[in-house]
Amino acid sequence: MCKNHGVAYVRPGEVEVREIDYPKLALGNRKCDHGVILKIVSTNICGSDQHMVRGRTTAPEGLILGHEITGLVIEAGRDVEFIKVGDLVSVPFNIACGRCRNCKEGKTGICLNVNPARPGAAYGYVDMGGWVGGQAEYVMVPYADFNLLRFPDADQAMEKIRDLTLLSDIFPTGFHGAVTAGVGPGTIVYVAGAGPVGLACAASCHLLGAAVVIVGDMIPERLEQARSFGCETIDLRQETPLDEAIAQIVGVPEVDCAVDCVGFEARGHGADAGREMPATVLNSVMDITRAGGSIGIPGLYVTGDPGAVDEAAKIGSLSIRLGLGWAKSHSFHTGQCPVMKYHRQLMNAILYDKVQIAKAVNVQIISLQQSVQGYKDFDGGAAKKFVIDPHGMIPN
Ligand SMILES: NC(=O)c1ccc[n+]([C@@H]2O[C@H](COP(=O)([O-])OP(=O)(O)OC[C@H]3O[C@@H](n4cnc5c(N)ncnc54)[C@H](O)[C@@H]3O)[C@@H](O)[C@H]2O)c1
Ligand SMILES: [Zn+2]
Ligand SMILES: [Zn+2]
Repeated sequence: MCKNHGVAYVRPGEVEVREIDYPKLALGNRKCDHGVILKIVSTNICGSDQHMVRGRTTAPEGLILGHEITGLVIEAGRDVEFIKVGDLVSVPFNIACGRCRNCKEGKTGICLNVNPARPGAAYGYVDMGGWVGGQAEYVMVPYADFNLLRFPDADQAMEKIRDLTLLSDIFPTGFHGAVTAGVGPGTIVYVAGAGPVGLACAASCHLLGAAVVIVGDMIPERLEQARSFGCETIDLRQETPLDEAIAQIVGVPEVDCAVDCVGFEARGHGADAGREMPATVLNSVMDITRAGGSIGIPGLYVTGDPGAVDEAAKIGSLSIRLGLGWAKSHSFHTGQCPVMKYHRQLMNAILYDKVQIAKAVNVQIISLQQSVQGYKDFDGGAAKKFVIDPHGMIPN
């Protein structure tokens, strides 16, 4: 029997690597003939994991984390017809059945059949269906033919694995944020947040032809990372109001499109830069986005937050100035990114050198044992995207 190890959530501020069950092709007591078992080649730590590890969700002790998975198929169930043993594949973080109404409409982030509690599921995530996570050596993936993206040439893919590993979540997520904000040739964009999703979004804006991409954050190293590939930046620790800071860059105090790559743990501006203000990004992007503009909101907002700043926020009720957005006819786009909508095209953009996404988000490869430290460094604001290499398969 093969052994397996994975990263477990222990308590707020603590994760550990522990021995876990080797995955079975099963869903409870039922066989999972449409599933595969993957030997994991790379699996990334995400800002979404940090919400759980900071104790800001109801994640249970022992939850095996990890939803950003790339791996080698080592076993395939009887009903898997097109994916083969030996394929190197990217796993969308959304688990989708391919059979329900939403999947049929391409809305794989809200599949109706993979989570009894609510629409939408993911590996290793609170409230997302109880699926075992993939910050591990091996994982089971259901509905394999539908979910998986096979890389056309495994050897070539290994050479670009630092980039391709980002297809399971943050590259499509950042891209989706940009697309839903209406980014296109010649647009002026504000991206809130210079974490990996914000940086992936900024790189996506360039790919989509934006004229100017302005990234705001309060962590200088992350802003420096954004400047390294041609973004303008705003340090939100400074007192200058956001609209004035934008005017200093583009001559007018507004942008065409804005993307919230921060979510509910947002902090304020200036003197409030250290203080949590969960609605601040949503309110400030309504201020600065032109009338008629769109706002992409990949940043996560929750229905339950035990560590919230006030009672309302504990159930996800935030004080949003919707009247302003309404008056400006803004469009808002929320929710999980339907990864499958974008991953094939973004894979080709990587394979044909149209984008340097690993460089933009500053990928750093670590071992499974180093993941505990990786969580700490990421939480400390490192300008890095940590990618776990559980079997030591990634070339230097
Ligand atoms: N919708 C999806 O499918 C999806 C997928 C992946 C991640 N996410 C979410 O996207 C968000 C970002 O992920 P990440 O990995 O980059 O996380 P992260 O925590 O590394 O980055 C968030 C950044 O926002 C900055 N920040 C805080 N307040 C700010 C403010 N008011 N204005 C501008 N920046 C501010 C922080 O300093 C930090 O650098 C998270 O909420 C994550 O859960 C959503
Ligand atoms: Zn993620
Ligand atoms: Zn479905």
